[in-house]
Order: sequence, then structure tokens, then C-alpha cells
Amino acid sequence: MIAPVNILENITVRPVSESDLDEIMLIEGACFHSPWTRQNFLEEFKNSDLSIPLGIEYEKKIIAYAFIWILLDECHLANIAVHPDYRRMGLAKLLIDKIITIARARGCAKIMLEVRKSNREAIELYAQYGFLKVGVRKNYYNDGFLRSEDAILMDLIITKEDKG
Ligand SMILES: CC(C)(COP(=O)(O)OP(=O)(O)OC[C@H]1O[C@@H](n2cnc3c(N)ncnc32)[C@H](O)[C@@H]1OP(=O)(O)O)[C@@H](O)C(=O)NCCC(=O)NCCS
Repeated sequence: MIAPVNILENITVRPVSESDLDEIMLIEGACFHSPWTRQNFLEEFKNSDLSIPLGIEYEKKIIAYAFIWILLDECHLANIAVHPDYRRMGLAKLLIDKIITIARARGCAKIMLEVRKSNREAIELYAQYGFLKVGVRKNYYNDGFLRSEDAILMDLIITKEDKG
């Protein structure tokens, strides 16, 4: 599928819910070695005190999503993915912008995440926003077939000025 150049003018950023799960599962399976299961997503939807599920809709389908957890003054970016046909069009940036806005509004001091050491695209994305590497979790990802990989821990500090 070839996406139009003006896709950003024709999308809606909205919360996702159980009714979007078929589309989300397709994207999740295409994006990750160890994808979240349907059950994992259902738990997120149930746990609305903690979890905020965001999606991007285009032509009545979800083409990107992110899940964040807000716990006291920390925001954790738990999952973010863009359908492979719609990459490099600014959709992840749109989601991160929205996440920063939410984190600020909720009074968070920082946004935290883990990313595979080999995930150049995502590390590049986070670095663009000023996320800094704050640690490493050795062999954090265990894909179950003789392969494990370190997680890079990254934080974005939300300054007083950022909090508006
Ligand atoms: C990482 C991911 C979310 C980026 O989504 P995207 O919508 O393509 O990203 P955007 O178009 O908003 O690009 C934002 C920035 O990310 C970086 N980036 C994205 N794709 C890149 C690539 N192929 N190579 C290098 N940098 C890349 C760039 O810094 C880019 O900014 P630029 O276009 O101004 O150079 C997407 O590749 C994806 O879904 N990957 C699989 C799931 C995943 O790894 N999630 C992150 C888990 S921690």
C-alpha cells in the first residue's frame, strides 16, 4: 500500500479501545520479536487508572498506537508502534508530542522508556526529543530462541518551563 503524502492532514489521534484490537494485533505482530498478546492489551484497557491508550486512525483504521503508564509523577512509555506501510511520515512524532502534552498536564517530572539496543530507528526518534540514555538492563529482552538483548533505558526530563 502506498500512503498519500498528505496523510497527516487526514488522520485522527484518539484513544484506542477493545474494538480496535484486531488492527492493533496485526501491527504489533509485524513490529516486535516478542509482541504483546491480546490478553496484555485487554489488561491495559481494563487498567484505565494507570494506562493511557492512544491511537492514530486513518481511513477508519488504526495505523499507529502508543500506551503510556502514569504513576505519580512518572510517565512510562510502555509501547509505541507504527504500521510498516506508514513509517517515516511523522506518525511516531505525533504520538510523542501528544504523550509529552499529557505528561506535562499530569505534572510528570519525566518520561521513561526501554528500547532494544539494536533499535536504531526508535533510539533516533527518542534522541530527537532529548531523551538521554540513563542505563542498561543486560539481556532484558529474551526472545526464547538463543537470543537475548540489552535494553537501553532512556529518560526525558520535563523541566518546569516544559510543564508550562
Ligand atoms: C520507531 C517507530 C515507532 C518510528 O515510527 P515512524 O512513524 O516511522 O517515525 P517518524 O516518521 O515519526 O520519525 C521520527 C524520527 O524517528 C527516527 N526514525 C524513524 N525511522 C527511522 C529510520 N528508518 N532510520 C533512522 N531514523 C529513523 C528519525 O529521527 C525520525 O525523524 P526524521 O524523519 O525527522 O529524521 C517505527 O519504526 C516502529 O513502529 N518500529 C517498530 C516498533 C518499535 O520499535 N517501537 C519502539 C519500541 S521502544
